[in-house]
Amino acid sequence: MEERETARREIDLQPLRRILEERYRPRDHQEAQELVVGACQEAQHLYGWVPPQAAQLIAEHLGVTINRVYGLLTFYADFRTEPPGEHFLWLCHGAACYIAGSQKVVDALRTEYRLGEDGTTSDGLLTVHVFDGCLGACDLAPVAQLDHHEYIGQLDANRLRELVEELRACRRVGSNDETIE
Ligand code: FES
Repeated sequence: MEERETARREIDLQPLRRILEERYRPRDHQEAQELVVGACQEAQHLYGWVPPQAAQLIAEHLGVTINRVYGLLTFYADFRTEPPGEHFLWLCHGAACYIAGSQKVVDALRTEYRLGEDGTTSDGLLTVHVFDGCLGACDLAPVAQLDHHEYIGQLDANRLRELVEELRACRRVGSNDETIE
C-alpha cells in the first residue's frame, strides 16, 4: 500500500515533458485534441499509469482542458488513473478459456479478493485485468499472464490462490518482516 502512495507522490515529469516537446507539437486546436490519447499512452508507458500530474502536464502542453484529458482517460478502459499493484495479471476470458472454465477463476477473484475499481487487491500486491480477447495461448486454457511475460496455464481457483500466496511470500521475503493482510 505504501508503495502505491509513494508512486502517487514521486513522479518525475521530465521524461514526459521531453517526449511531449519532441513529438507532440500540434499545429492547431483540432490537432491538439487528437493528440491527447497518444500523449496519455506515452504517460502510461512511462509510469505504468497516468498520474494526475502527467494529465495536467498533457493538458497544459496541448492547450486542452483537464476535463478533456480525463474524459478520454475514463472513456478508454486500457488507461489507468491509479498506480498498478506490484504485479500485474491478465486473466484471459476469451472463448477457449471460457469454455475451459475461466468463469470460475473470475468468480473466485471477485468473491475472495477485495479488488478495487482498478482491479487491484487491497494490499496493493496484484492488479488483475480480465481480458475478453485471446492471449494467444489457447492450448494452455484457461490461462493467465503474469507481469507481461509468464504464462500460467490450466488455471483454476486453487492455482490462483497458490499464485497469490507465492507472490505474498516473495514480498515477505523481500521486506523481511512486513506483515501482509
Ligand atoms: S482464448 Fe484464452 S488464450 Fe486464447
